[in-house]
Formats: sequence, structure tokens, C-alpha cells
Amino acid sequence: MNYQHWMIRHVCGYLLNPAIPTESPTLRIADIGAATCILPIELAGDLSHTVRIDCFDISADQYPPKDLIPKNIHLYVHDAFTPFPEEFQDQYDIVNIRFFAPVMNSSKVSPLLQNFLKITKPGGYIQWFEPDMAFTKAYAPTPAVPTSATQKLTGIMRHPTGDNDFEWVPKLDSIFASEGLEVIINKRHSVPDSYKVFTGQAQLMAFEDMMSKMEADGKTEQAQQMRFLYTALLEEYRQGALVDVDFLCVVGKKAL
Ligand SMILES: C[S@@+](CC[C@H](N)C(=O)[O-])C[C@H]1O[C@@H](n2cnc3c(N)ncnc32)[C@H](O)[C@@H]1O
Repeated sequence: MNYQHWMIRHVCGYLLNPAIPTESPTLRIADIGAATCILPIELAGDLSHTVRIDCFDISADQYPPKDLIPKNIHLYVHDAFTPFPEEFQDQYDIVNIRFFAPVMNSSKVSPLLQNFLKITKPGGYIQWFEPDMAFTKAYAPTPAVPTSATQKLTGIMRHPTGDNDFEWVPKLDSIFASEGLEVIINKRHSVPDSYKVFTGQAQLMAFEDMMSKMEADGKTEQAQQMRFLYTALLEEYRQGALVDVDFLCVVGKKAL
């Protein structure tokens, strides 16, 4: 995930879209689903040390030790689908959410956004950043490179099973608008050709993370099937195949 972060930061050229003002030394920022806190840590390095960044995650498992992160980053454990405690209401100039798609589906977007709107100050900003899985494509450098596993992964990314769907991602801007946000950015980021190989490497790492989590959750059979696909992917990716994916950044401004 950290590798993916650096790759994306380089591809997009920002952590928070430049349309979001970040000059104020009293900014308060929330990062939802903060995981390893890589984005907040880098943001803290870019902004004044007087800015306060609050990280929220359903689990503290990936949080770094408190002593190793900047003092203006605060860590909380909270399920983002449930109301935030009173102390966080109307507090944030900026609410950031990135790579939350794995736990999302179309019916969850509006309730989650409404929850974020409650913690955003009037006139504050919400930035949501996701891969646009519907537009994933299997890539091979030459027709001789096999892509059956890569195409299978593309299919899984486009049409995940269970409770998960990604159809809402390209509609995020209209969902923002229907929740009363003024959409100020709806930006698609394609990965430049010279970075596509790194995207592939990040996908393999994400795949490994997913398999480990499945194993830890006791989903042994599912994990075994994934491992089978992973082995085939490794061979295809070694020959230059990968899944090409775009990223979308939507920024909305809450009414004053
Ligand atoms: C793919 S990681 C996101 C990484 C991070 N946002 C980034 O951009 O580097 C998804 C994170 O969301 C967290 N998460 C999942 N469900 C959540 C929920 N209901 N409320 C808060 N966090 C949640 C997971 O624990 C995980 O750390």
C-alpha cells in the first residue's frame, strides 16, 4: 500500500488536489481509512506543523507506533459507517478518503458521504480518490505474452463478487452533487506508460496483502484459489503483462 502511495503521488503530483486551499496554519484534516498513515505522514511534512491531522480507521492494526509519527497526527479507531462522536462534528476543513473501494458498494456511498459532511466545516472540502475499476484493461507488450491470468484479474476487478461493487466510482461527482456538495474537481488520472510497470508491481503487492488477510480470516479455500491465480500472474507480469487502471479524484465543497 505504501508503494502504491508513492507511485500515485508521483503520477498525480499531489496528495490533496491543488484546488483545495492548504495555506492556513490552523487547518484541521481528517483522513478516513488511514491504514499505515502514509498519506497523513507525508502531508504533515508538506504543511505547517500547526495543522492538525486526525486519522480514522476501523482497526489500529496498521497504524505506526505513535512515537514514530509527527506530533500533529492523531490516531483514532472508528467505523466510518457509524456516526462520528459529537467532538468531531463540523470540525474539519478537509476530509480525505482514498482507496476505500474494497469495502464499498453503490448503496453505501451516500450514507458515508452524509457521515463525512457532518464532520466537515461549512465551506470545507471532501476529497475522494479511487481506482476506476470499470475501465481496467489487460495489457501485454506483445501478442506473444500470455495474459489469461491478467485477464482473469481484470474481470475480478471489474466485477467483484459478494457485497462489493465499483459502479459508483465514475458516478462519484454526481453523487457528491446530489448530496449538496459543489463539485470543484472531477479528475481522471491515467498512469503514464513509463509508470505502468510500477502499477503492476503495486497490484501484485496488493494481491499478496489480500491473500494474507483471507488466510488470517480463515477463508482458506478462497485464499488458495487466489494463490493459484497469483502464481500465474507472477509469470505473466514477469513477461510484461499487467492490468492498466485509471484513478479518479473528486473534490467537493460543502456549502457555507
Ligand atoms: C486499502 S486501505 C486504505 C489505505 C489508505 N487510505 C491509503 O490511501 O493509503 C483501506 C483501509 O480502510 C480501513 N477500513 C475498512 N473499513 C473501514 C470502516 N468501516 N471504517 C474505517 N476504516 C475502514 C481498513 O482497515 C484499511 O486500513
